[in-house]
Amino acid sequence: MSDISTTEQELTKQEDYISRLEDILYLRAGNRQPLAFVHTYGCQQNVADSEKIKGMLVRSGCALTEQKEDADIIIFNTCAVREHAEDRVFGNVGALKALKKKKPSLLIGLCGCMMEQEHIADKIYKSFPYVGLVFGTHVIHKFPELLYHAVTDGKRVFERGNDDGQIYEGLPLHRDGSFKGWLPIMYGCDNFCTYCIVPHVRGRERSRRPGVILDEARSMVKAGFKDITLLGQNVNSYGKWLDEDVDFAGLLSDVAAIEGDFWVRFMTSHPKDASKKLIDTMAENPKICNHLHLPFQSGSDTILSRMNRRYTREKYLEIANYAKSRIPDLSLTSDVIVGFPGETEEDFQATLDLIREVKFTSLFTFIYSPRVGTPAAKFEDPYTHEVKARHMGELLRVQEEIAAQRCAAMVGRTYRVLVEEQAREGVLNSRTQNNIVVEIEAPAELIGSFREVEITEARNWILRGKLK
Ligand code: SAH
Ligand code: SF4
Ligand code: F3S
Repeated sequence: MSDISTTEQELTKQEDYISRLEDILYLRAGNRQPLAFVHTYGCQQNVADSEKIKGMLVRSGCALTEQKEDADIIIFNTCAVREHAEDRVFGNVGALKALKKKKPSLLIGLCGCMMEQEHIADKIYKSFPYVGLVFGTHVIHKFPELLYHAVTDGKRVFERGNDDGQIYEGLPLHRDGSFKGWLPIMYGCDNFCTYCIVPHVRGRERSRRPGVILDEARSMVKAGFKDITLLGQNVNSYGKWLDEDVDFAGLLSDVAAIEGDFWVRFMTSHPKDASKKLIDTMAENPKICNHLHLPFQSGSDTILSRMNRRYTREKYLEIANYAKSRIPDLSLTSDVIVGFPGETEEDFQATLDLIREVKFTSLFTFIYSPRVGTPAAKFEDPYTHEVKARHMGELLRVQEEIAAQRCAAMVGRTYRVLVEEQAREGVLNSRTQNNIVVEIEAPAELIGSFREVEITEARNWILRGKLK
């Protein structure tokens, strides 16, 4: 729970640093507006954090740039969820050495989930001496102060590892989009799935107050946002520690009740806490998208139990089937891990069976990656990478077929879409409520608006449509 007076005091202190930074950063850039490059790895939680970091940079007088070669400040917001994610960060930080050599005043800062791991911060300290600032996920609100010290003290600044359990409301925010946006409703995670680093790097679960969430949602709708995603690692346990009588289904219907033409989505739902009430709320409310991202991770009860997921295959199927029966045209999407330590051929077949039974619209598929400090990293893992890669290939083939059938079944029907971005010359990508991308030939002026399209063609899982 936030202690409002301490967080307010802290924010006033940070405002003070912001005003001091303005002149300092301007002078450091050689008497011109300083340029900042912020790159985000990982999930939407990180994207939302980066929007705060950008907000603080802009308030300190910086302009944002997409070209790191031009930047005076480079920030990488990192992800620790799999080894591959970390390797990419190390590779890209390595590549910054040459830039730093060319421009010694360049400040390179690393933040986010990777930095909350001690062994990673140590490695950065020892092996990447040109990184001047490292800060973890718990001190984002102190970014102005840390930046100030990094540019004025002549010393490297490392600050991480102190989760004070607070939520700092009211930080400056620079949203990346103008019609599609993220709205964090909670932070951290208490679930400790045995493979997962997130609870270790994001701290304990805490929910924002419904009042601040609704105010933010109202201001987004007023500013023209058409697609709002409520974010949390497990949105279904929203409000657990609040002294107000709220739950996620209630919050969701309150957001949807805001006046205006917009859609609301959410992620991620943990199956152990997904309630029928939530599904009913989705079914009854046309502004809540008919898309449910419900990660199952494995179809085998033995593996689910060793993952500490706290639901069974049967329980998962029960809620998935209930959702399908209540919500017309529902898209169910999911995350699945292949090759969890000790996953046998039989366990893997149980996963394939579940995929065939549920018929997900799309899947995010991951090969298990051991994470330092998590219980599963010590589990016996007798199967080779070859076996895991073969399973992954098999799984992808099964899913591709399902996705293709699902897309083919949409041909000839008309859907409301939000036009999102240019795909290529003369072609735009649009998205249905149930999160399926439809290519349309249309002028770029339509980006950011709702339109009706008829699906004319499905090529594998790519849909084409024409404006009605
Ligand atoms: N809170 C979300 C997931 C966040 S992490 C949830 O519980 O659904 C996103 C996905 O990364 C997870 O769903 C899982 O499928 C995958 N993942 C997490 N840790 C992993 C690991 N060590 N190896 C492989 N995949 C992992
Ligand atoms: Fe990780 Fe599990 Fe928490 Fe999701 S619910 S973030 S998978 S520990
Ligand atoms: Fe990665 Fe952190 Fe998200 S580890 S997946 S960026 S919460």
